[in-house]
Amino acid sequence: MCGIIGYIGRKPVERVLLTGLHRLEYRGYDSAGVATLNGSGGIHVRRVVGRVRDLERHLQQDPVPGTLGIAHTRWATHGRPSEINAHPHLDASGRLALVHNGIIENHDTIRTFLEGQGITFRSETDTEALVQLIGFLYEQTGDLVESVRRALRDVDGTYGIALLCRDAPETLIAARRGSPLLVGIGEDEYLVSSDGSAIIEHTSQVVYLQDGEIAVLGPAGLTITTTDAVPVEAEVSELEMTLEQIELAGFEHHMLKEIYEQPETLRDTMRGRIDAREGRVKLGGLVTCEREIARARRLLLAGCGTAWHAALVGEYLFEELARVPTEVEYASELRYRNPIIDEGTLALVISQSGETADTLAALREMKTKGATVLGVVNVVGSTIARETDAGVYLRVGPEIGVASTKAFTAQIAVLAMLAVDMGRRRHLSPWQTAEVLAELEAIPEKVEQALKLDEQVQDLARQLVDRDNWLYLGRGVNYPVALEGALKLKEISYIHAEGLPAAEMKHGPIALIDKGMPVVVVAPRDHMHDKIVSNIEEIRSRQGRVIAVTTEGDTRLRGLADAVLEVPATLPILSPLVTTIPLQLLAYHCARLRGHDVDKPRNLAKSVTVE
Ligand code: F6R
Repeated sequence: MCGIIGYIGRKPVERVLLTGLHRLEYRGYDSAGVATLNGSGGIHVRRVVGRVRDLERHLQQDPVPGTLGIAHTRWATHGRPSEINAHPHLDASGRLALVHNGIIENHDTIRTFLEGQGITFRSETDTEALVQLIGFLYEQTGDLVESVRRALRDVDGTYGIALLCRDAPETLIAARRGSPLLVGIGEDEYLVSSDGSAIIEHTSQVVYLQDGEIAVLGPAGLTITTTDAVPVEAEVSELEMTLEQIELAGFEHHMLKEIYEQPETLRDTMRGRIDAREGRVKLGGLVTCEREIARARRLLLAGCGTAWHAALVGEYLFEELARVPTEVEYASELRYRNPIIDEGTLALVISQSGETADTLAALREMKTKGATVLGVVNVVGSTIARETDAGVYLRVGPEIGVASTKAFTAQIAVLAMLAVDMGRRRHLSPWQTAEVLAELEAIPEKVEQALKLDEQVQDLARQLVDRDNWLYLGRGVNYPVALEGALKLKEISYIHAEGLPAAEMKHGPIALIDKGMPVVVVAPRDHMHDKIVSNIEEIRSRQGRVIAVTTEGDTRLRGLADAVLEVPATLPILSPLVTTIPLQLLAYHCARLRGHDVDKPRNLAKSVTVE
């Protein structure tokens, strides 16, 4: 939530900041702003309500000079989206400007204290409390970096910040606690950013700041200390991202591009990790936890949103393939419960961004209770990736569309590989193992086939787009797919949709079905097919409109459903990897036909770093 970027170097800063903000916009997009410093000529601030393109228009009329600056794209937490609440925020003297991602929890206390000192606040934000506090301390001490350290020691909550000061026209300061921040090292230049996408065209050399660290950047180089002034050695890493990966490449939206990338991303997720002939899985990131994996008697999986749906698919995979009892929890619930972690419990957290606040808190809670926690994460070097005991990266590249698609299928693929690995150590025979692995390897091609449904799905979307209430039903391992299909439709097309286990329909939700109500039934051929056919009959009797996702060649459903989307056959336990594809496309086309901004749905933002 919220994207921040800072730059110090020789390039005109306005363009660097704007390009960076465009790339960070998926993190929040209700207002945006920049502040630049031009020698001792003072701070130039421009802020607008709306998108980065609105800020860009504003800057065309009223540009900002300089080669040092900071910028922000906001997802409002404290204070409605308005120019006055947009970042950057200034201190009372107007000497300091700051952009912030995160939440200052004790902002009220700080505000009351500072107001008592005669300082007047201008905005409703928590961020202003931080910059005003730094300004107040700077006024007293005259030491900029020490004032930042002292202020950060006094605040509760989370922050990724970038700050500049009129009195230090060759210095950019950045710090983090709980919100992601990295420093890019270019030639005679430094960048600071919430994620790599904003800086990749300048450099791929980065330092991931750790919680409680402050970076001071300028002609003298990069200095990192803790908030207690302890020096820290900068560890330089290579950013695993290319410019190509974050561009649209001819697609109208990132979401569509990412849906279409899935055959390739799934290949990348599995590459080198499966040996079907030998019947072996090799997950390099987990070798340090081999003992815990081998001895696990119970699995506890946690995530949020789409990642939680992947965890639910995981529950079926682990119980069927590994015969290990598995529980799935919303990370947001688990963090405030008192989860039972015993010696045989192995925990797994799933997160695309690796920064989701609830998932991170659940991970920390489980570690406090002594669990070994494995991570299934996409973003390399993210907080969750660093704090888990071991983990498996998804390798799907940056996911920019706010609605998660390629990360979902990769999460399932990783869970499937781990389930097979655990199963092999327990009861799966070599040939059973080989069968599942061979089928997993064949999945990317089947996803390619499933994508060919796109035109049929588009037609269907045209027929159904005006309906405001939908149901999604599935059974067994396809029940989470129904949940995920409904979530996709809700979040980008703003159509109300509910996902249910198909048999639950008759316990209440069937009352919703009336003439023409779309009911998407995920019904591939498996041992529950007959049961789900009965559910379809029940919907038809109430004149609901059935859209069935089934296995290629299923002639039985052709006569029963109003529309049939046929996906290639695979092992039933792996079917979510293909049945989910037409549902992603359906949500996409409905949102597009309704004229919504598919990649930036209202009220949402990628990477939920607030509670
Ligand atoms: C839905 C979506 C969200 C995320 C959730 C967790 O399309 O993107 O529901 O899945 O916010 O995010 P990560 O996986 O980054 O922890």
